[in-house]
Amino acid sequence: MAFGAPRIEYKSKAQMAVMHQSGLILDEALKAVVAAASPGVTTGELDALFAELLAKAGATSNFLGYHGYPGTICTSVNEEVVHGIPGPRRLAAGDVLSIDGGAIIDGWHSDSARTVIVGGPSAEDPEDRRLSDVTEEAMWRGIAAMARGKYVGDIGDGIEDYVDARPGKRLGILEDYVGHGIGTAMHMAPDVLNYRSKHRGPKLKAGLCLAIEPMLVRGGLDTITLEDDWTVVTADGARAAHWEHSVAVHDGGIWVLTAPDGGASRLAPLGVVPVPLS
Ligand code: MF3
Ligand code: CO
Repeated sequence: MAFGAPRIEYKSKAQMAVMHQSGLILDEALKAVVAAASPGVTTGELDALFAELLAKAGATSNFLGYHGYPGTICTSVNEEVVHGIPGPRRLAAGDVLSIDGGAIIDGWHSDSARTVIVGGPSAEDPEDRRLSDVTEEAMWRGIAAMARGKYVGDIGDGIEDYVDARPGKRLGILEDYVGHGIGTAMHMAPDVLNYRSKHRGPKLKAGLCLAIEPMLVRGGLDTITLEDDWTVVTADGARAAHWEHSVAVHDGGIWVLTAPDGGASRLAPLGVVPVPLS
């Protein structure tokens, strides 16, 4: 371990159960935002809906005010990769929209993102569909690697192996932004790379909670942050997708804290059976 590496916060099962409560509220709110994301709706309206649902459920937002961030979700459209600020922009059919949100219950954080293509199947570019689907499955491969692996670095291996094995033009895995530990804060040690690295990182062991969040692009890996100091776009204007779940390791196995079934349905084909926290 490097000198000065920030310490990892290991959680008890009871603490992870509260994170799961936060994650379930987050999942419900994200589902509602996905359902509302149709042509003509503004990203600001989606933010207002999400904020209302969190409040109704008794949760607070970890995004709002984070380093001055002005929203409760990030809405990143097309060439915007992450941290797009909700506002007056009206969604159009065929837009690739990544929605990233978080919640806090009793001080315990959750963080999750999903990508949708506005207007449904008839509006989508097949290459955008592939972009989102590969990013989503890459996230699940990363989660499966977390269940089976020994080191945090195994997650990036699982993600990159999957992306490499896709037929057709290889999608790019962004390197400028990575996943992270999560618990009493949204962003904690350790970093979770979405690609292979010789640095294996810390051991995967009980009490570790990680946000796994691959960001894939149809073009090059270079990104630019816009004048608003938040919105990250691809330098070449190619479209991006982003999927994220918060995942716990406990003494019995793993549990996806931001999925109602703990990830069971998407992990079954990968031979991984998530184990409930209680
Ligand atoms: N939740 C994002 C991530 O996945 C970070 C959002 S930062 C905010 O790590 F300021 F926009 F909230
Ligand atoms: Co995150």
